[in-house]
Amino acid sequence: MIRSVVRGSGAALPRRIMKNADFEGMVETSDEWIVQRTGIRQRHVAADDETTASLGEAAARAALDSAGLTPADIDLIVLATSTPNNTFPATAVEIQNRLGMHHGFAFDMQAVCSGFVYAVATADLYIRGGLAKRVLVIGSETFSRILDWSDRSTCVLFGDGAGALVLEAGEGVGGVADRGVLAASLRSDGVHKDKLFVDGGPSTTGTVGHLRMEGREVFKHAVGMITDVIEATFAQAGITADDLDWFVPHQANKRIIDASAKKLGIAEQKVVVTVDLHGNTSAASVPLALSVAVADGRIKKGDLVLLEAMGGGFTWGAVLVRW
Ligand code: ACO
Repeated sequence: MIRSVVRGSGAALPRRIMKNADFEGMVETSDEWIVQRTGIRQRHVAADDETTASLGEAAARAALDSAGLTPADIDLIVLATSTPNNTFPATAVEIQNRLGMHHGFAFDMQAVCSGFVYAVATADLYIRGGLAKRVLVIGSETFSRILDWSDRSTCVLFGDGAGALVLEAGEGVGGVADRGVLAASLRSDGVHKDKLFVDGGPSTTGTVGHLRMEGREVFKHAVGMITDVIEATFAQAGITADDLDWFVPHQANKRIIDASAKKLGIAEQKVVVTVDLHGNTSAASVPLALSVAVADGRIKKGDLVLLEAMGGGFTWGAVLVRW
């Protein structure tokens, strides 16, 4: 059977690093509060010349380099983002053009922080359905552009960045020993739409708007939803937490990550945590975390890796990959 195998990975971050202490003169907060409640120590913030498209392009080029491929080898780009350069055309198409790619096709996918997990699951279907052989899956965000910088309950939590994977059609026998995407579970429930949203848009206010969040409400639902969808993914693949080599969760809050891993029985040393370095970069958080763990040699060919995310909507999901 056809499997979507990871051939390369890469990432890109804005030049400017903003430490927790840098907020202390802007809003009433402290490094101690932010670290204790979230685990975040710093985040990257995009300059005017750094956009979702430019960061996405840089991450895509890094992933192509690591795969030993060029844009000519790619036939689909799926970009997960909630902060596109423009309402349209899709930022994926802009990245396609920046890469000098004038063949194939590209589109954006919007599932907020779950965007990358949705995008990997979608790319896998295009590959297994025979519509694409090699897909660039990118998560790129500039959440700094939609933050209300006077709201301490949200502005300290988010950051900018991008990460990418190259997925390639490969052969498998249909078991969990195959390399590639092995299982995926996706969920959404719009009843929670007012708990985490942007208060503007083309069809309502005609403005871009700012991120609004009832943090405590999001927190309350997060662990249950995350663990539920992961258990469904384990059941689909016929594995248990003990079979995993690495757990790469969405990087929103260290306490949510710890509580989810504990509830699932995933050992602490198998959990990849980068929220301290990047903050919550929404759809970029999972591929950024992946790129760190690949670069430092933790994630290796043949490892069983679980990706998970939860975000606005709510949307949530998990993907199991044999690297
Ligand atoms: N500095 C200091 N105090 C603050 C700050 C801050 N930056 N932000 C809020 N506070 C205050 C609040 O005003 C509140 O004060 P009060 O008691 O006088 O009203 C107090 O701290 C406690 O606020 P809580 O909201 O109860 O704090 P909590 O422990 O829940 O932590 C947090 C807040 C970090 C937002 C947490 O709720 C959280 O992480 N929620 C999940 C958010 C999340 O993960 N979102 C992303 C998932 S989806 C996606 O990624 C888009």
